[in-house]
Amino acid sequence: MCGIVGYVGSQQAAPLLLEGLTRLEHRGYDSAGIGVLSGSGLKVAKRAGRVRDLAAALPARFAGRVGIGHTRWATHGPPTDANAHPQVDAAGRVAVVHNGIIDNAAALRRRLSDEGVQLASDTDTEVIAHLVARSVAATLEERVAAALALVEGTYGLAIVHADFPDRIVVARNGSPLLIGVGDKEMYVASDLAALVRYTTTVAHLQDGEMATVTAAGFTTYRQDLTATVTPAEELDIDPGAYDVGEHASFMHKEMLEQPDSAEHVLRGRLDDRFGTAHLGGLGLDARETREVRRVKVLGCGSAYYVGEMGASLIEELARVPADAEAASEFRYRNPVIDPDTLYVAVSQSGETADTLLAVQEIRRKGGRVVGLVNVVGSAIARECDGGIYLHAGPEVAVASTKALTNMFLGFALLALQLGRVRDLSIADGHRLIAGLRALPAQIGEVLKREEELRPLAERLAAAESLFFVGRVRGYPVAREGAQKFKEISYRHAEAYPTSELKHGPLALVSPAVPTVAIVPDDELVERNVGALHEIAARGGPLVVVTHAGVDLGEVAERPDVHRIDVPASERELDPILLTIPLQLLAYQAAVHLGHDVDKPRNLAKSVTVE
Ligand code: G6P
Repeated sequence: MCGIVGYVGSQQAAPLLLEGLTRLEHRGYDSAGIGVLSGSGLKVAKRAGRVRDLAAALPARFAGRVGIGHTRWATHGPPTDANAHPQVDAAGRVAVVHNGIIDNAAALRRRLSDEGVQLASDTDTEVIAHLVARSVAATLEERVAAALALVEGTYGLAIVHADFPDRIVVARNGSPLLIGVGDKEMYVASDLAALVRYTTTVAHLQDGEMATVTAAGFTTYRQDLTATVTPAEELDIDPGAYDVGEHASFMHKEMLEQPDSAEHVLRGRLDDRFGTAHLGGLGLDARETREVRRVKVLGCGSAYYVGEMGASLIEELARVPADAEAASEFRYRNPVIDPDTLYVAVSQSGETADTLLAVQEIRRKGGRVVGLVNVVGSAIARECDGGIYLHAGPEVAVASTKALTNMFLGFALLALQLGRVRDLSIADGHRLIAGLRALPAQIGEVLKREEELRPLAERLAAAESLFFVGRVRGYPVAREGAQKFKEISYRHAEAYPTSELKHGPLALVSPAVPTVAIVPDDELVERNVGALHEIAARGGPLVVVTHAGVDLGEVAERPDVHRIDVPASERELDPILLTIPLQLLAYQAAVHLGHDVDKPRNLAKSVTVE
């Protein structure tokens, strides 16, 4: 969603800001803008549409060595030029870019308008520009602090003022803000992706903190202007991880990275001696681990579906009741928080507002919550009592692939640890560890079949509507498969438990409606094959994701039935290998249809609003 960049130094700010904004495009946005300061004052350019449209429309003279920029995802008011950020005050001397939501914006807008201020946009952000402009305090820092004292809500903010042309003042409350340290130049961003080309020396602001950023360095302080100590750290990241390289898209790159990234989440966490997992970051000793009576997983989108895979894995290995729920629903139904339940929040970005708010609700009611999070130091990671970092590396494409795989592996590690303090035998522990160790190479084997799956994906892309079906362990696989397919191909893809087919969906099965069926070689294989016959009898084309030994009977003879065999793993770990071909099918279908696979329409990588 919304993204912030800022620059102060000896170079021209505008090209750097535009470059930074393109690095944030994947987050999802519908308008963009920049504001720069020079001797002649503040210049602002902003418009609805893409960053490249903004760049093309930029006036030839747009000089200035201090500036801020923004990509906006509309919340208050439609995506228009006027509502794009930076928002400015009436005199055009203060510019503000903002991520987050000001809760008391309506009251502040009313108050400003009663005082004679002409509001030029529908945004909540604009009030901050006016409030800063109206402060008569001596310094910009005091003016911003005075404005923020009136504001309720969440924000990452970057503010420039023509009367203080050497600096950017930034503030954070619930929305990430980073300061990048260069050589006599400094950067500001809401996301590392915008910084890594320039610097990997970065300071993370804390909630409630502000900072003044000049070419010479930065200082941090609280909103009452008392100093804080927030050192910049050298981050161990490969800037190349944020580049698409030779791949046609980030999604393609990230899918193919899975064998390596899967190794990373397992590294150092498997204990051969006791057949268990070591998850030091969870902060649970053996006694506390044993005292867990129930597990509740919370996430949104793909994180929710992999949460369902994880919950069934935990229930199976640890024999504690476990389920998953959409975090976006959970907090609105006044949930009962049980002290003996371990709550698990799953999120790639660590920023998803619905998941974050669910975590806060649980903790407010005294529950214990751990995170399965990819982005180190993100809001959800910091809010949880402990957690498992996913170590998938940066994921840029909206459709989650490598982070999702690592979420599943994170759940497998958690299930192993919970299981081994209960009734899971050491032999089973060893069996699962061997299975986990084999997975990265097995994922690689499935990925090699990309070309072979292309014609199949193209056939699926031709259908307006598809079903994805599976049972028990296979059902969340079907849900995730349908999610991926609809997210990037824009085809209607609906998941059902295979057992429910005859209770409704069979009415729609026809030669025009293909079904992707998940049929692992498990205890339900015969029933699943039976369901394939029911689909085939109604002329429904089938793609069956299965294992080599499975006999599909006479269905296999039909020309409109295709099978994809994935390598056999330990039964409990099947879901992840069954998921990989579904990524490839969704990807190939979307490419065939000519869609922008990395930035599907109407979706955002990090949904930072409720
Ligand atoms: C958005 C994205 C989904 C993603 C979900 C959760 O809805 O479009 O692809 O699965 O957010 O994101 P998270 O960062 O919390 O895993």
